[in-house]
Amino acid sequence: MRLRYRQETEKGFDMAGSQSVMTGARALAALALIAAPVAMAQTAPTTTVTIQTSQPGATINRDIFGQFAEHLGTGIYGGIWVGRDSAIPNVRGIRSDVVAALRALKVPNVRWPGGCFADEYHWRKGIGPASARTSTLNASWGGVIEPNSFGTEEYMDFLGQIGAEAFLSVNVGSGSPEEAADWLEYMTADKPTTLAKLRAANGHPAPYKIKYLGLGNENWGCGGAMSTDHYVEEMKSYAHYSRNLDPAQTGPNAMKRVAVGWDGGDSDYTEGVMKAWKSKVWSWDIEGVSLHTYTIPGGWDSKKPSTGFGEDDYALTILKTLEMEPQISKQSAIMDKYDPEKKLALVVDEWGAWLAPTPGSNPGFLQQQSSLRDAILASVNLNIFMRHADRVRVTNIAQMINVLQAMILTDGPKMVLTPTYHVYHMYVPFQDATLVPVSFTAGTYRKGEITLPRVDAVAARDASGKLWLALTNIDPNQPAEIAVAIGGTRIISAAGQVLTAAKVDTVNRFDATDAVTPKPVKATARDGRLTIALPPKSVTVVALEVGE
Ligand code: AHR
Repeated sequence: MRLRYRQETEKGFDMAGSQSVMTGARALAALALIAAPVAMAQTAPTTTVTIQTSQPGATINRDIFGQFAEHLGTGIYGGIWVGRDSAIPNVRGIRSDVVAALRALKVPNVRWPGGCFADEYHWRKGIGPASARTSTLNASWGGVIEPNSFGTEEYMDFLGQIGAEAFLSVNVGSGSPEEAADWLEYMTADKPTTLAKLRAANGHPAPYKIKYLGLGNENWGCGGAMSTDHYVEEMKSYAHYSRNLDPAQTGPNAMKRVAVGWDGGDSDYTEGVMKAWKSKVWSWDIEGVSLHTYTIPGGWDSKKPSTGFGEDDYALTILKTLEMEPQISKQSAIMDKYDPEKKLALVVDEWGAWLAPTPGSNPGFLQQQSSLRDAILASVNLNIFMRHADRVRVTNIAQMINVLQAMILTDGPKMVLTPTYHVYHMYVPFQDATLVPVSFTAGTYRKGEITLPRVDAVAARDASGKLWLALTNIDPNQPAEIAVAIGGTRIISAAGQVLTAAKVDTVNRFDATDAVTPKPVKATARDGRLTIALPPKSVTVVALEVGE
């Protein structure tokens, strides 16, 4: 399968032919036909998806579905932490509605405390009893008071409550290797050092498990504007001294260190880090290199709104987000030069839609709505990550709650799940599944000068042997009929869910929480093949029942 997308002038382009634009009535009729897919064959272009079960691919690391929670706006304070005395139901200060919603997502890991904030975070200010916490200013994000009420213990408690693992970022920008080493000792020492005893006094005698350790954040920019060489020298020191002292974290359980990589701009960090790694000496190592890349339709200086937009903005956003594919391919190729055995992971630990702030909100809080468009954006990115599962083993969407492309929005005691949340929920079966190649011709959807693939598909087999298929219809106007075939195997039936809504900018609100929610989808099997009708602008995930 080859995705095709390009932006060309009207004059020089004659490829998509005559795509009819559906009226609202026709679109509704198409939606009504979800349960009767054969009838839709009259109007919807058909795409044949062939699943090649005989050629299984890489394991889709569940950490591809990771999250990012920074001390930014109301991402932590209000979104996760409400305090023990809050009227909002909570367990040890962590709000229970958010925990329940995140548990259902099976969040594998949460990156914390930043982002840019990580490079000005000093962990000692966030441990111990409430009276010991130091108030500082969050200079990166809005200059607001940072009470440090949510610190190491609260982060680990939160992870325990939602069932996720730790992805901790140490302060390379304004900290020191010594400060990072002490934090690691505080968290991981199993022997009674002074810091381990302090951890026990603060309520946790056993060492904490840290699965991933980020060595700085965007040190080409907010993390100190370091040249590549400067960062590499700092990074080696942090990689050496940030020791995980827990004997239980050895072998396959060993903590994985992630160096800062390319920024989506001009830096050559990935090249510099990989070159250094290739000739590393015994005293340091890393297990991953990061990539940060956001979808910013309109660019940094004229960000597009998160609501009230039309098809032009929709097409532009999907065009921009599909740049993830060449960006990952480029970074993978650099890593392949130095690491052909793919020992190191490409860690896309910040990605997602970055849109104009919600009108009336503090611009430093990066609040935006999340629409059906963002759900489609999430699905095509997750599909790209899964297709690159041999190299991409961790990703963290920015950010989990109330910030950028969030899973969840809160306002005081109110909470709403976004369309992006629902995509993550529908994709849970892909966690730790084995990629199964699919072949199909994507077709084209065209809006003005923008041409995009019309459909996208990814398949995988879970640990129980069940086959899963994710299908995205990018076209906001036309339904798509998908004929699914598996060589040498008959498809008996399929069941799953479809996510769509009336418009690409439909959002869930506190007073209308179910405008975009998954609905059951049924598909009909005949002669061992399956037919599924995809509504326009939709994401579908189905489990396939197969037989001889
Ligand atoms: O996610 C918001 C910010 O974007 C992060 O703090 C920073 O790393 C990136 O530039």
